[in-house]
Amino acid sequence: MRIAVLGHGVIGRHVCATLEASAEHELRWILERPELATAPKMTADVSRIMNDPEVELVCDILPGTHPSYEYMKLALEAGKHVVTVNKAALCFGFRELVELAERGGLCLRYEAACGGTIPNVAETLKLAQTNELEAVYGIMNGTTNFIIDRMNREGADFAPALREAQRLGYAEADPTADLSGFDVKNKIIILSNTAYRCYCTDEFPVCGIQRLTRGILDGFAAAGKTVKLFGLSVRRGERYAIGVAPVVLPLDALEAHVPANFNLFTLRGDKAGEIKLYGQGAGGVPTADAVVRDIQAIAAASARPGGAYFSRALVYDPTLLSGAGYIGGTRYEGTLAELCARARAEDKFLAFEPATL
Ligand SMILES: NC(=O)c1ccc[n+]([C@@H]2O[C@H](COP(=O)([O-])OP(=O)(O)OC[C@H]3O[C@@H](n4cnc5c(N)ncnc54)[C@H](OP(=O)(O)O)[C@@H]3O)[C@@H](O)[C@H]2O)c1
Repeated sequence: MRIAVLGHGVIGRHVCATLEASAEHELRWILERPELATAPKMTADVSRIMNDPEVELVCDILPGTHPSYEYMKLALEAGKHVVTVNKAALCFGFRELVELAERGGLCLRYEAACGGTIPNVAETLKLAQTNELEAVYGIMNGTTNFIIDRMNREGADFAPALREAQRLGYAEADPTADLSGFDVKNKIIILSNTAYRCYCTDEFPVCGIQRLTRGILDGFAAAGKTVKLFGLSVRRGERYAIGVAPVVLPLDALEAHVPANFNLFTLRGDKAGEIKLYGQGAGGVPTADAVVRDIQAIAAASARPGGAYFSRALVYDPTLLSGAGYIGGTRYEGTLAELCARARAEDKFLAFEPATL
């Protein structure tokens, strides 16, 4: 296929290198910053890419919602398949982009947007062919897992563990999106849409780990438990609920042992039961590989879904995510939405123990 890559950073460079080495695909254009667009294939003018009738597929490897979302729209309107790594832009316009792709008979693929190289989307689509998906949950953010793991294994406090994550390049200089749960929020929306075949709401409870302390972890450890930041999504028939929160786990749970910046996603189908996918949710080479797998799937014409796939109208029901919440040493019962609101009002850390998942 003749391909254009938008963005030439950590992931974009690895995708370009793979395409340059490929006998099957042709790297036609790279969208670069004007001052860096020095090689013949590079351009800072996106219209050259969109107006090139020979470009069949556009890889969006830009950060942030804009102009990534607008560029994906332009590409689909110009009759080009799209592969994106950008969860923020995809969440922003999920329905519109899916419907545009459907109308044009085009593919929109987004494996790397939901856990780097881990094949969450591919496995979800495969499972959905024979199963009703009932839950998607797990550790979906490497930065927060690294911090908690560091605190658990080495007795570190939150601030030095965060600094270490930043020194190693796992956390950004501004770590807010990771710590607040916003990064996981985008991933769990995209995965829930894909699992339940609908357009899920983006209004649901999100609690992060900003207020986690050594003392809180020590308290749970004394009770044979720990805490990890989870994306949570459950479905019962025509109803579903989504949330993001630190979840209380027994020390022998698989998730309790996930080390460093690794992720562990669980998919549950009504026939397959639980399937766990473990791996690196970020990193240049692994994430670029997920992009190339999406390109391969489109080239092999095995890629879908189209708009009809997302045609279900399910109802958001927050009571499906209920249980106990530990806030400032007190145990409360309620929905995750109620518990999150209480923790926020008291400006305290929430540890959520789901009654059902
Ligand atoms: N890194 C990972 O492990 C990982 C994993 C999964 C998903 N992702 C997603 O992949 C995307 C890219 O991540 P990355 O790590 O490769 O980021 P990055 O290293 O910052 O690369 C992005 C590149 O795009 C350029 N860029 C931004 N806006 C542009 C524009 N309008 N025109 C031309 N170039 C533009 C940036 O230039 P400037 O530096 O000049 O702004 C930068 O070179 C993000 O959406 C991220 O969420 C990353």
